[in-house]
Amino acid sequence: MSDTATHLGSGKVRELYAFDDDKLLLVASDRISTFDVVLPTEIPDKGRVLTGLSAFWFRQTSGLVPNHLLALRSDGRSTECRRLEMLPIECVVRGYLAGSGWKDYVATGEVCGHRLPAGLVESDQLPEPIFTPATKAQTGHDENIDRAAAADLVGEERYDEVERLSLALYRTVSERAAALGIVLADTKLEFGLDDDGRLVLADEAFTPDSSRFWPADEYAPGGPQPSFDKQFVRDWCLGTGWDRTAPGPALPPDVVDGTRERYREAFELLTGIPFSRYVGDPEIVL
Ligand SMILES: Nc1ncnc2c1ncn2[C@@H]1O[C@H](COP(=O)(O)OP(=O)(O)OP(=O)(O)O)[C@@H](O)[C@H]1O
Ligand SMILES: [Mg+2]
Repeated sequence: MSDTATHLGSGKVRELYAFDDDKLLLVASDRISTFDVVLPTEIPDKGRVLTGLSAFWFRQTSGLVPNHLLALRSDGRSTECRRLEMLPIECVVRGYLAGSGWKDYVATGEVCGHRLPAGLVESDQLPEPIFTPATKAQTGHDENIDRAAAADLVGEERYDEVERLSLALYRTVSERAAALGIVLADTKLEFGLDDDGRLVLADEAFTPDSSRFWPADEYAPGGPQPSFDKQFVRDWCLGTGWDRTAPGPALPPDVVDGTRERYREAFELLTGIPFSRYVGDPEIVL
């Protein structure tokens, strides 16, 4: 890989560089976004947690589906990966009723066209995990869509394939998390196509930014759950009376520390690897 990289763009959290037509460098910053707004305060170590956890799960699930990971750099936040043509949908799987899934259910009794039993409460486990795709909004919020709308975007066959793979990935990782006392309530995956038109898992995978992780011993449906994910920051931001539009509020030191601790704890619980060991040798997760 040549070392001259072109900056392709900045996502809310990641910087994208291209080495050539086939390879990208994804660098996860310590930025945190909530309700799609990047906050003015960074969370130290967050980028490394996301990068390390994603690499860990790419490795753990490589038998189920090929992924974009080529190499992990020694800074612990940079991933060399295959450059793909990303599908224009977010592949969300929900095993529990939370976030926009809960909101949609309250409004319509359905989530993305899946009719659910009546009488479910917030955070309830669903009879079985469901695939609930969303648009990838260039600006603004992603929108939940049903099978027909998603199939319009990617084609019927591709839809069936990403649904099957997303559900299989969710099942594998949620079983593993359950054995560790963690509920994987839901998760968002992104897939791309390689030059041969093969589906490849990309972006980040099973991190606290892309998933809701709940401590199983505190699980109590009927309201929101304490979590290892961004919920802590979301709740704090809303507590300030913030209206969810940019600019977001600056985070005080105790919220930064609490968030940082949650991210690190999620990394350690899920991988079984002390975060300090990852920092010293990122490839330990592979
Ligand atoms: N292997 C890959 N090939 C091409 N693009 C990729 C690959 N993996 C991830 N991406 C894209 O890189 C970007 C990652 O940046 P980041 O996660 O910060 O973005 P985001 O805030 O989620 O969304 P946006 O880019 O719309 O702001 C995403 O747009 C993702 O789709
Ligand atoms: Mg992203």
